[in-house]
Amino acid sequence: MASWAERWRRDFPALRTSRGKGVSYLDSACMSLTPRLVLQAMDEYYSRYPGCGGRSVHRWSSQVTEKVEAMREFSGHFFGGDPSGFVHVRNTTEAINVVAQGLDLHRGDVILLTDQEHNSNLVVWQTLAKAIGLRLKFLELPDDRAFDADSYRDALIKGVRLVSFFHASNLDGRLLPGSEIVESAHDAGAQVLLDGSQAAPHHRLQLARLGVDYYALSLHKMLGPTGTGLLYGAPGALDRLHPLLSGGETVSWSDYASHELLPGPARFEAGLQNYAGIIGAHAALRYLEKVDFSEMAGHERHLQMELDRATRDMPLQRVGLIEPDSKGPIFSFVIPGVDSHDVALFLDAGYGVLVRSGMNCVHSWYRSRGLEGSVRASFYLYTTDREVERLVCGIRELSERVGKRGSERVRGSSPSRRRSRGQRATPFPGQNGSSSPRVRPRSLAGRSSR
Ligand code: ALA
Repeated sequence: MASWAERWRRDFPALRTSRGKGVSYLDSACMSLTPRLVLQAMDEYYSRYPGCGGRSVHRWSSQVTEKVEAMREFSGHFFGGDPSGFVHVRNTTEAINVVAQGLDLHRGDVILLTDQEHNSNLVVWQTLAKAIGLRLKFLELPDDRAFDADSYRDALIKGVRLVSFFHASNLDGRLLPGSEIVESAHDAGAQVLLDGSQAAPHHRLQLARLGVDYYALSLHKMLGPTGTGLLYGAPGALDRLHPLLSGGETVSWSDYASHELLPGPARFEAGLQNYAGIIGAHAALRYLEKVDFSEMAGHERHLQMELDRATRDMPLQRVGLIEPDSKGPIFSFVIPGVDSHDVALFLDAGYGVLVRSGMNCVHSWYRSRGLEGSVRASFYLYTTDREVERLVCGIRELSERVGKRGSERVRGSSPSRRRSRGQRATPFPGQNGSSSPRVRPRSLAGRSSR
């Protein structure tokens, strides 16, 4: 298995530069890396046919229109749904907003969520609850297994208009049973929106077969350019939504008094689009088409098992679901007594290991459990054993040093709740304000702050 990732790594320029060679990128759940083919496709757009799609009829624009529609066609093939059901959006958050703000919802309608949704699938519902009186109901997920079908069916009370769940969690990779969720919801007369941002990168989906009404995903977690995503709507489902944005290319005609909306995806793609991104995302899906997803799942599972085994005797607190069979390649943990951002800065500075830290946009879940955050390492097809070993070495060094200090906090650690979004962790100010841990990794001992 060790070499499985190597054959893909060659294609990722960020891993091949001298800066990239010293880095273990373990933050793919936030954003994946981009293969050269994707960069080339975007470059080609800007250098060879930089027109605007769907409007002008000249040769460059016609080519763009064809490329955008080719991507829609390919999305239908790749994700197993009718191409006319795919809307180009910026990300999962936007896709969820298109559905939430587009459905004809009324005061008293119930939206069923899990208690582990990230803010993309929470804040918009809270906003609508305030604005129009929706009722939000939360399904508590058991800590020790992925799903309790009986509790779910009990939660499908009268009045549930929509079940809006993650398909795989960004906090611990927990996978929910999509078909079971859809089937029971439909039996109860509710529609289903699945947030597939963490599931789509690791599973070959068959959306039509899944039977879901709406599916949201981010292509920048699937090797695509930043700010690219898709909303899928089952046949007829998109036409039930009011468009979130109004404007050019969404109507068949307009006069001074009114207009007629186009059907299907066009009514949601107002204004000039991210053509370079859409064309790059198409190249990303074509690249992923070459990957055997069951081999990838085996590789990711192997990395998880190795990490589990290597850290078993360390004083880590694992966060969320642990059982590797019911989850994707995400490893969330806390080193007791050390702020998660401090751990992330330590791993970066000393080991070149890049992880995410904090509440992972799931503040509600962490706060309900009295946690200030966790460190999250996530893997993808290019992640190697060596990178995971580097993470283990970093965790080992830090835990040993914390252990020697007893329960005393690592000097300067500050609770993350006092830190607002965008602010870097403050405990490690190096010279001239650069961030460099005060608890310096051994590899940096004696060297000046970087
Ligand atoms: N949802 C993304 C993450 O979990 C941003 O990192």
